[in-house]
Amino acid sequence: MPVYKDDNIDEMKTDMSGAIGADDAAILKLAGNSPYTQKTIQYTTQSSQLVSEIKTLCGIQESDNGLAPQSHWDLDGDLEFINGGQFRALQIGRISKIMPGPQFRACVQIRSSASYLVGKAEQINAADLEEDMRVGLGGRLEIKLPLPPAVDPTISLMQVDERPTTTYADIGGCAEQLKLIKEIIELPILHPEKFKKLGIPAPKSCILYGVPGVGKTLTARAIANRTNSTFIRITGSELNQKYVGEGARMIREIFALARSKPNCILFFDEADSFCQKRSNQAQETGDAGVQRTLLELINQLDGFKDRGNVFVLMASNRPDTLDEALQRPGRLDRKIEFKLPDLQGREEILRIQTKKMAVGQGIRFKLLARLCPDSSGAELASVCREAGMYAMRENRREIIEADFIKAIEKVIKGYRKFLNQGKYMAANAM
Ligand SMILES: Nc1ncnc2c1ncn2[C@@H]1O[C@H](COP(=O)(O)OP(=O)(O)OP(=O)(O)O)[C@@H](O)[C@H]1O
Ligand SMILES: [Mg+2]
Repeated sequence: MPVYKDDNIDEMKTDMSGAIGADDAAILKLAGNSPYTQKTIQYTTQSSQLVSEIKTLCGIQESDNGLAPQSHWDLDGDLEFINGGQFRALQIGRISKIMPGPQFRACVQIRSSASYLVGKAEQINAADLEEDMRVGLGGRLEIKLPLPPAVDPTISLMQVDERPTTTYADIGGCAEQLKLIKEIIELPILHPEKFKKLGIPAPKSCILYGVPGVGKTLTARAIANRTNSTFIRITGSELNQKYVGEGARMIREIFALARSKPNCILFFDEADSFCQKRSNQAQETGDAGVQRTLLELINQLDGFKDRGNVFVLMASNRPDTLDEALQRPGRLDRKIEFKLPDLQGREEILRIQTKKMAVGQGIRFKLLARLCPDSSGAELASVCREAGMYAMRENRREIIEADFIKAIEKVIKGYRKFLNQGKYMAANAM
């Protein structure tokens, strides 16, 4: 390497313009090299080679065909499974009788065609099989799989899974009715021994009736919130299906679902839509399907099979139109009337409805209740909402008494022409 004198910069510059020598190149090549560099490079290439080798052995991997990686495949095992006959489609049957004896034998009905005497596969425990159970039968007609009861998805959807937030405290002016309801719904579940001691059967059905908007559906919501039982809500109109016999089948399945639960409440809202009196003109008016639904309900209420812990709750505002056969005790044990609230009841309802509203101080709810004679809970709820609207129109932060009075003018007096409660009251008085 040429040695330059410090002060001879010009000479250095001219020399740098030329090519670097072999010595310089050797030094430059050493830059960045550590004692392990060579080995690291060697191992990296080796490992990447191994990875590519593994990939070739595994074959092409598709991420979106849903298959497990080939390394997890067990082709021999699968072949054995298929050849062993376990993979064949199962036939579905119902066990009609289990024969006594040391070896398991059962009568199984397959479709409605025939009954077969069959055994069970080894891996199935005989204790898991019961009479009237759905089972899957293998190729040699032996029970291969116990199956859960078949439930129509539209019916399992009727089950109330999310409990409503309404509680008994949200219902005003119905203390008497609520007491009766608690007695028949909660007492048999919480204290069954009381009924046993007296030797009387607990009531199993009840109808809530009364003029529209007095809190029948509200009460059912509070019951659903309160009990731990399964709550199934059926609206009458859902049962009126296109094909004759569909409604009856739905009732049967609803009861089958209810019986499979430890405790269950069936709530039929607007029961008059399918429980009307039977008439001779049903064929002409197209009510034949509705009548069959009703007959199936009557059958289920006191049929051959024990109803178990199924409680039937109905709500209707035209009890006078209900079929007589349905109304008799044994089918509908209790009839609870929801009347229009009295003065105290109206005051309570007004207080309940305004609980979450921003109302001013010193509102005379008693006076307001007095100004709404013969009003239903729904009308009082509407009064409170309208009062809120008046306050909003005037950009006020809270609702004052004058708003309520204006709302009463509008809802109670203004909407008189819509009033049809006279007819309902006349019908209910019969
Ligand atoms: N006793 C009550 N206490 C508090 N609010 C009530 C009461 N009765 C009715 N309401 C109010 O009126 C609304 C309608 O009541 P609900 O749906 O229970 O009427 P209903 O009796 O089922 O009427 P319908 O026979 O027409 O079905 C409720 O959501 C509630 O806001
Ligand atoms: Mg209702």
